[in-house]
Amino acid sequence: MSKKNFIFGAGMRAKELKGFLALDSQEIYGFIVDSEYKNSDCFDGNVLLSTEEFLEKYKPEEVLLFMGVGMPRMNMKREKIFESFHKHGFVFEKYISSKANVFAAQIGEGCTIFPGVNIGLGVKVGTGNHFEMGVTVSHDCIIGDYNFFAPGCTLCGDIQINKGCFIGANSTVSNSIVLSDYTLVGAGAFVSKSTKPYDVVLPQKSFTPDNKTSLDFMK
Ligand SMILES: CC(C)(COP(=O)(O)OP(=O)(O)OC[C@H]1O[C@@H](n2cnc3c(N)ncnc32)[C@H](O)[C@@H]1OP(=O)(O)O)[C@@H](O)C(=O)NCCC(=O)NCCS
Repeated sequence: MSKKNFIFGAGMRAKELKGFLALDSQEIYGFIVDSEYKNSDCFDGNVLLSTEEFLEKYKPEEVLLFMGVGMPRMNMKREKIFESFHKHGFVFEKYISSKANVFAAQIGEGCTIFPGVNIGLGVKVGTGNHFEMGVTVSHDCIIGDYNFFAPGCTLCGDIQINKGCFIGANSTVSNSIVLSDYTLVGAGAFVSKSTKPYDVVLPQKSFTPDNKTSLDFMK
């Protein structure tokens, strides 16, 4: 009997993941949400089950389960879902888009890697990380568990990212530094130093309405 594909989540990211899986010839059968979020029996044309309904109906060997939840509560929500499904014997599948360039030495359980992601040689990636489109992770980075990489962010080489970090869109993390647990990097920031747990890194304002363009550099 062929296994049924389910996505945990019923939001924009879950819908997008369904679309990317379809492009790689993996059709989704249904979605799962915690019962407090279930307000219908279907989502995006597929069956929608509460976690309880799903656990009652299916055994681990009957399904392939994908993670479609992003960064709520600094990725802690995603971590809790992994833990609760592990208790029932389920594991999450990896999704690595056929349009991503992944040369990593290791990609952990339940990671989702969208099209246009580049992951270099010698990179090790732990459990439950999500990579949006256009993320670049250069050589030898060590990535822990449950981090979220927003579109277009760049990790230079030899970086350590611990757990639950959010790396904002189009930000750059400089080489050979450590981002501690739950670091939040704002969109467009440049991170040049290691962070402490729960640090927030914001970009320098590069433009204010009072600034005037200087043409000196063109002389
Ligand atoms: C850092 C961040 C989390 C702060 O969010 P927040 O606390 O809700 O802050 P606000 O959006 O209310 O912004 C407060 C002020 O800081 C400025 N600001 C916030 N984040 C900024 C950023 N990344 N770059 C430049 N300015 C920023 C805002 O313009 C605003 O300025 P104002 O008061 O002059 O209008 C958020 O702005 C951010 O960078 N999010 C990441 C976006 C992203 O990568 N999304 C991808 C999802 S897939």
